[in-house]
Amino acid sequence: MTRGIKRIAVNTGGGDAPGLNAVIRGVVRSALNRGWQVLGITRGYEGLYDTSKIMQLTRESVRGITHRGGTILGTTNKGDPFEFPMKAADGSMVVVDRSDEIVSAFNKLKIDALIAIGGDGSLRIAKKLYDKGIPVVGVPKTIDNDLSGTVITFGFDTAVTIATDALDRLHSTAEAHERVFVVEVMGRYAGWIALNAGVSSSSDVILIPEIPFDINAVCEKVMEREAEGRRFSIVVVAEGAKAAGGDMVTRGPKEAGREVRLGGIAEQVAAQIQQITGKETRAVVLGHLQRGGCPTTFDRLLALRFGAAAVRMVAEGRFGVMVALAPPQVLAVPLSDVLGRNRSVPLDCDTVLTAREMGICFGDTVQ
Ligand code: F6P
Repeated sequence: MTRGIKRIAVNTGGGDAPGLNAVIRGVVRSALNRGWQVLGITRGYEGLYDTSKIMQLTRESVRGITHRGGTILGTTNKGDPFEFPMKAADGSMVVVDRSDEIVSAFNKLKIDALIAIGGDGSLRIAKKLYDKGIPVVGVPKTIDNDLSGTVITFGFDTAVTIATDALDRLHSTAEAHERVFVVEVMGRYAGWIALNAGVSSSSDVILIPEIPFDINAVCEKVMEREAEGRRFSIVVVAEGAKAAGGDMVTRGPKEAGREVRLGGIAEQVAAQIQQITGKETRAVVLGHLQRGGCPTTFDRLLALRFGAAAVRMVAEGRFGVMVALAPPQVLAVPLSDVLGRNRSVPLDCDTVLTAREMGICFGDTVQ
């Protein structure tokens, strides 16, 4: 089955996620064991515009990286070859299609297959390259856990663990000062990180994009606790959460070729809680801490499994697919089935039901 494959390439695109290096190691070791060569394309696809930046990946290059955060290949979320932002002669920014350069560099380097590790945006690019003739296998990465087709993405467990630890720590200072803390976590348009970390840390309120909130319901919960003698509260808010009838809070206008940046909701919610309840309230934004440092054991193992499975797909000649966790197996799903179908939190999922049954408030009126 592996007949014909001599050299593959791997790249990492979009925001980083803990476990990227473990995937790279899984890919490299499995491919070298099949007698293939592995090239690492640096900074998304940039290494293909300037091939002096391509890395030959050997056993030595992936030694001791399983537990390391970041990516040895570098990454970027501004490098879509189909919408590449460039400076025009007059200094203005223009968006150009450089995908043909990618395809010709790929062919010139005699690469037989590409393993593209990325989230929705990067896998969308990978699918377009597949449509242009590049044999591609995708590996689902994102701390947001919002990709369809896989039960979980690597990076998510680490982000939830970091957020849970932060929420645990904030509990003691909140209690000592009888304050309300509003803690903003990442997740983009999905509330998975907020939900899982909020329930695991026994937070009092969880605000997620899937459930538009009423600030009065949030304040009622805070005052209900006050009346019970619990004079502090912890509110977890996903960066994409919004008030009923309101909009998501963004940081500045959308830049060409990348998603709009979300952020700032915690400050708004904190100010409103303080104003309505009179309780001293602080906002904390966890931000990129959730993406930094070592992956958890769960993410390391999943990432290694994804890397090895991606090589298996290449060996079997299965392209235009993404590896996916369907416990207990890792299998392949067509990229065309998963892209553009971001997975949000189902309102009737067990974790939401558990939270409600434990008295956690979602800022709505359903109890
Ligand atoms: O998609 C991963 C993610 O960390 C989101 O949770 C967050 O909104 C975004 O990336 C942040 O992007 P950047 O690193 O460009 O600030």
